Amino acid sequence: MTTTTTGGAARDGDTRPSAGGASRTADSPFVRACRRRPGPHTPVWFMRQAGRSLPEYREIRANVAMLESCRRPELVAEITLQPVRRHGVDAAILFSDIVVPVAAAGVDLDIVPGTGPVVAEPVRDRADIDRIRPITVEDVRYVDEAVRLLVGELGDTPLIGFAGAPFTLASYLVEGGPSRTHARTKALMYGDPDLWHALCGRLAEVTLAFLRVQIAAGVSAVQLFDSWAGALSEADYRRYVQPHSAMVLAGLADAGVPRIHFGVGTAELLTAMGEAGADVVGVDWRTPLDVATKRIGPDRAVQGNLDPCLLFAPWPVVEAEVRRILDEGRAAPGHVFNLGHGVLPETDPDVLTRVVALVHEVSARPVD
Ligand code: CP3
Repeated sequence: MTTTTTGGAARDGDTRPSAGGASRTADSPFVRACRRRPGPHTPVWFMRQAGRSLPEYREIRANVAMLESCRRPELVAEITLQPVRRHGVDAAILFSDIVVPVAAAGVDLDIVPGTGPVVAEPVRDRADIDRIRPITVEDVRYVDEAVRLLVGELGDTPLIGFAGAPFTLASYLVEGGPSRTHARTKALMYGDPDLWHALCGRLAEVTLAFLRVQIAAGVSAVQLFDSWAGALSEADYRRYVQPHSAMVLAGLADAGVPRIHFGVGTAELLTAMGEAGADVVGVDWRTPLDVATKRIGPDRAVQGNLDPCLLFAPWPVVEAEVRRILDEGRAAPGHVFNLGHGVLPETDPDVLTRVVALVHEVSARPVD
């Protein structure tokens, strides 16, 4: 790939905002919707749009391990751009993973194909937490470089940066890998709240620093993934999790980029997740967007919420669902079209391309 570095190549200790970036995309349909400003059409992107559904991704990743691929700026840039070129989505999302900053902080882990993140020594005590070091730009230089390359390439298409929220990260660190019940995580949370808050506090620091690096390098928005927060009741979410996610989101309040806050199975948490400090709340397919809007309130936009499994249905069914979601999204003060969770690897990419065209066509409107 040839890349121009109009975003400015990274220098040692350089955390100044890259030229362009957020300012160049301020009027894009995506940023406008996040800011609850009308735009020429409803913007659309897909969580996990860069990934195994694309043959060009499978090819370029063939001999490179997942974590290694996240550490090669040129490769990150190429993978991030693939779905933008192919589908014409309204935003790119940085190719990385939620465990990248945790690995940079010193945790011994790997991403195992078909399984997900696996941690060598799961967190059990205070000493394990102390081993999670605070990070600086030096620890994730490859992310800073990748974002600067991408900002130069993307022009007026926004780049979304992201990180995992403290609860979802803590779940991987305490369980040692993916978990259906989060039993060990909850055992620590209920059984030793002091240790739990120390762990989440440390993860919040790492997450905030990681997002700050991405913003300084030029991303136009950030998404905080609390994918597994739906495992909690609202009361427990508010008590054990919200303060830490709120610390991250408040720490970005002065950065001038929209903050998206997303989780799965969070129908009962939508109000609390909005109150954690988001500009946009991600909604999964279980809650219609007009209902979600009542829970979230008029001061935040929504993102979602096509069931990723619907992409396997015949096209007329997909089309009807896309139209329904756009209709329900009109109740919100701003709507970013997305799936309710990530693209599944078996998805036919041509269906995604058709969804983008349909969203743009159906939602087209004149703007002053
Ligand atoms: O396109 C994008 O959305 C950007 C890339 C992205 C990845 N991971 C790449 C990836 C993003 C935003 C993530 C976030 C992430 N990672 C989350 C939060 C989002 C969500 O899905 O809820 C979570 C929980 C993880 C942890 C993780 N990493 C899982 C569950 C897996 C899948 C395991 C598997 O193989 O099915 C990963 C690995 C991973 N991260 C892949 C990709 C493209 C697949 C690995 C591969 O292609 O070899």
